[in-house]
Amino acid sequence: MPATTSTPESRPALDPMTLHPMPAAPSMAYLKPLLADHPKIEAGDYSYIHSFTDPARFAEQVKYAFDFIDDRLVIGKFCSIAADVSFVLNGGNHFADRLSSYPFPIFGCWGEPDPGAWPNKGGIMIGHDVWIGWDATIMPGVMIGNGAIIATKAVVTSDVEPYTIVGGNPARIIKRRLPEDVAARLQALAWWDWPAERIASASGALMSADIDLLEALVESRD
Ligand SMILES: CC(C)(COP(=O)(O)OP(=O)(O)OC[C@H]1O[C@@H](n2cnc3c(N)ncnc32)[C@H](O)[C@@H]1OP(=O)(O)O)[C@@H](O)C(=O)NCCC(=O)NCCS
Repeated sequence: MPATTSTPESRPALDPMTLHPMPAAPSMAYLKPLLADHPKIEAGDYSYIHSFTDPARFAEQVKYAFDFIDDRLVIGKFCSIAADVSFVLNGGNHFADRLSSYPFPIFGCWGEPDPGAWPNKGGIMIGHDVWIGWDATIMPGVMIGNGAIIATKAVVTSDVEPYTIVGGNPARIIKRRLPEDVAARLQALAWWDWPAERIASASGALMSADIDLLEALVESRD
């Protein structure tokens, strides 16, 4: 979200460990330094969040993240995460296939029922160059493919194909973001893994809709 335009004097170095990449906009933060020591959440270079309150509290947006449950939130590189996005991990799961969904065992005063392993749909994996719109919710076990867009207020309950746009509750495909052949060529280029300086010099092409231009840049270097 383009909150401000950085001026030449405020332009930060291409360091993914910079907490606030836009000094004039403290509401924006790169996630990697913010989560460096987090046991359950990991983010790739240059993925950022915007917050209407305090981006340092991002981990509070990851709900039911308990250290005794084996699940994680992994976010790729160059993701844009709007304010108030929630990620739901498995610590809030009750049984949906038993006679009661009430979690009798956790209270310790209802006898000693042993229901077996609690439901765990697995962690959440977000690819690279994913844009997640304001107040979207990502449910446990979901994988979001590279280049996908999650619409404002979507509730994502199943995997999202690369370079598609999904929205609604439950989220369904609204449309493709890019034609399939262009998406495949982008996946093959995997520009998000290039050195930062190379990405900077290709940013004009990345901001265009011209895949030939991006590929020509690659070929001119090889
Ligand atoms: C999903 C989104 C990117 C689509 O934008 P777009 O490509 O310009 O598409 P359109 O506005 O033409 O909408 C296309 C269709 O998607 C539907 N749609 C748009 N936003 C939607 C949403 N949040 N939930 C469900 N459906 C949505 C539209 O109603 C339209 O449906 P139709 O084809 O049946 O008429 C945009 O609506 C969105 O949600 N952006 C996120 C904004 C945001 O949260 N920014 C936070 C700051 S980073």
